[in-house]
Amino acid sequence: MPTLQNSTCHQGSLVCVGTGLNLAGQISVLSKSYIENADVVFSLVPDGFAQRWLETLNSDVRSLQPYYAQGDETKSRRDTYDQMVQAILNAVRDGKKVVCALYGHPGVFACVSHFAIELARGEGYRAKMEPGISAEACLWADLGIDPGHSGHQSFEASQFMFYKHTPDPTTHLLLWQIGIAGEHTLTEFHTSSDRLQVLVEQLNEWYPLDHEIILYEAATLPVQQPRIDKLPLKNLPFAQLSAISTLLIPPSRKLEINHDILAKLGITVADLG
Ligand SMILES: C[S@@+](CC[C@H](N)C(=O)[O-])C[C@H]1O[C@@H](n2cnc3c(N)ncnc32)[C@H](O)[C@@H]1O
Repeated sequence: MPTLQNSTCHQGSLVCVGTGLNLAGQISVLSKSYIENADVVFSLVPDGFAQRWLETLNSDVRSLQPYYAQGDETKSRRDTYDQMVQAILNAVRDGKKVVCALYGHPGVFACVSHFAIELARGEGYRAKMEPGISAEACLWADLGIDPGHSGHQSFEASQFMFYKHTPDPTTHLLLWQIGIAGEHTLTEFHTSSDRLQVLVEQLNEWYPLDHEIILYEAATLPVQQPRIDKLPLKNLPFAQLSAISTLLIPPSRKLEINHDILAKLGITVADLG
């Protein structure tokens, strides 16, 4: 059984693990072992199937899902995340071996694990993160793309809109949480055609309106196929988006040779093959 080393810390501990995207098969041996040996497991997984699978591994699995706004309730996701972190920390403070099992990679576009680990360490508890298979890892596999071929950039879609990020159109661009792009109140779980039109116009500075983009949703059950929908950029405002949609914008331009650097290195274009 894996252990956290640090004899000077208090008794409680926290490990944040990733369960991957696809039910039961994308979790590491180590992460599964942490779940099996935990006193308490907090979970945020794609669906009831994944939740019930976790419950076969440990008898005390507590879903974090109820901290999200329920029914007609209006609640900031900031409050939701604070409450999740406090629930996790309270169990650690009770001296328990706590595991937080989050779908995908627990620390990729996911703040709860980072906040909880920082807080736990600040209070003198042992805390760490185990990596998991993220949506992005599934995307490269399902689309047959090596991001190293031309490089890639990843942004949270709303952050991309609100701040002056500069995409490099010679690389792959990933926009996460496209389903809530431009949503600034942190209370809604959807975007709108108007907001997506603003994004299209923003992207048009670097990409032609007819440039092919890809809406991607990894399968979360072994019986499912991934969603891979190709469409022109201009049609994004009319696309069906969900909480699990990720937008991939492939390069619109070829890589450009940096002649200055090649000259300094004494390399010719022909040497690059
Ligand atoms: C809060 S982030 C969590 C990401 C997660 N930690 C991971 O490692 O994949 C939620 C965003 O991840 C992406 N995502 C989550 N599930 C996905 C899936 N099944 N397929 C594609 N993208 C997904 C979407 O961009 C979604 O809006």
